[in-house]
Amino acid sequence: PVLVVDFGAQYAQLIARRVREARIYSEVIAHDAGIEAFKAKDPVALILSGGPASVYAEDAPRLDPAILDLDIPVFGICYGFQTMAAALGGRVANTGGREFGRTTLTLTDEGLLHQGLSSTSPVWMSHNDAVQEAPEGFTVTGSTPGAPVAAFENVGRRMAGVQYHPEVLHTPHGQQILTRFLYEIAGLAADWTAANIADALIDQVSDQIGDGLAICGLSGGVDSAVAAALVQRAIGDRLTCVFVDHGLLRAGEREQVQHDFVGATGAKLVTVDAADTFLRELSGVSDPERKRKIIGREFIRSFEGAVSEVLGDHAEGGQQVDYLVQGTLYPDVVESGGGSGTANIKSHHNVGGLPEDLEFSLVEPLRLLFKDEVRAVGRELGLPEEIVARQPFPGPGLAIRIVGEVTAERLAMLRKADLIAREELSAAGLDSQIWQCPVVLLADVRSVGVQGDGRTYGHPIVLRPVSSEDAMTADWTRVPYEVLEIISTRITNEVPDVNRVVLDLTSKPPGTIEWE
Ligand code: XMP
Repeated sequence: PVLVVDFGAQYAQLIARRVREARIYSEVIAHDAGIEAFKAKDPVALILSGGPASVYAEDAPRLDPAILDLDIPVFGICYGFQTMAAALGGRVANTGGREFGRTTLTLTDEGLLHQGLSSTSPVWMSHNDAVQEAPEGFTVTGSTPGAPVAAFENVGRRMAGVQYHPEVLHTPHGQQILTRFLYEIAGLAADWTAANIADALIDQVSDQIGDGLAICGLSGGVDSAVAAALVQRAIGDRLTCVFVDHGLLRAGEREQVQHDFVGATGAKLVTVDAADTFLRELSGVSDPERKRKIIGREFIRSFEGAVSEVLGDHAEGGQQVDYLVQGTLYPDVVESGGGSGTANIKSHHNVGGLPEDLEFSLVEPLRLLFKDEVRAVGRELGLPEEIVARQPFPGPGLAIRIVGEVTAERLAMLRKADLIAREELSAAGLDSQIWQCPVVLLADVRSVGVQGDGRTYGHPIVLRPVSSEDAMTADWTRVPYEVLEIISTRITNEVPDVNRVVLDLTSKPPGTIEWE
């Protein structure tokens, strides 16, 4: 892989994603992982990420200089650029030329990295220190008002670096520059394609499970569906999928799993019909956290029941289910401190409630993938667009989109309104711009309206379209007025007891994406 060296800022993961967008495989590694760990990864290039520190600070994160002698291509970014400069004999200092945000890069030399760019271009910076002198043998190729050396390269040594952040969208040519490093300076070929990824993962899963049995909980979401499809390809009917229908799903979701998913994969599916139980347990409950806890608990009970049944079947034949498939993605792995290989965990850490002496090995075929890669692999495996392009949907489902008590009638209202919003947003071609659009029923609020010739006293529906890259932060999506108008008209006409549609104009923070 291309190793992105993490110096403790939030940039490393984003850089890794950008490298993969250039269709080259990349992983994040801690800066202090040690040279043996670096070598063990067999890196084809290193990218030194940004970081919070000054290279001369006491506690500045440092890279073992021997790593730079491994004769592999290196690209330094921001702090990584400064570390690289300092390690190779250049000079870094704090001369007060700090820059935060947008600034202008002026090219001072036709280098390989910026070839084809105009002589000035906007870039995004965030630095106090600046490289004052490039290391010997390096050509300075650009400067900014606050950084006399804003970019350098040594093509012979296959090394380059930039003070600005090419990985952020505020640097318009950033991806092009990063790609030029990978292709032109490092000489790498783009071979990280969905087909290759899928083949490699299927082989890996086959090796891991051998002729064992596996079980997978399907949530209706993209990740569990793609994970299950991969494992199904690898081991066929030795995988059993379990889908708990808690009655809090959106219109068409159960059918999507039962027909579309099974149709596309041929996977063996057990559906647990638990809607009545969930509704019963939720009756009288309005508090969001209590709703979540009840749903979590009931979910585990239902899943546990289904697993026992599957285990029971196989136990008669004398075989045990040893593997639990999960749709864990790379961002979760990186955020929880990395770690590689497959953890052998007590099952109840994951699916709770299962008999204590039962141990599953985890199968996490997606643990090195980003969301867009998961979607690409899903398409490669023939999963339908309805599943692959599906927007995120919370596990507790519509229950946390009804402000107030959850009842069957309210669920039916919300399901209708949600379907209308989804239909119209898709019809308007907005799916790719919108991360997700929760539709919320304010069940405890009523307002006066007039419909036909009479007064109404109905509930408001809230539209919450948001744009986001990772759901950690989000902005409200500027949906065109005409589209909002159609949605509003249709919802008030078609959903009984709803007489008002309102739009949520709150970014995250301060609002969360969901209302509960
Ligand atoms: P918030 O509301 O915290 O949501 O801004 C961030 C993202 O997470 C989703 N979400 C959940 N997903 N189980 C899930 O699987 C949950 O309990 C849950 N709560 C929120 C939410 O839809 C958004 O994408």
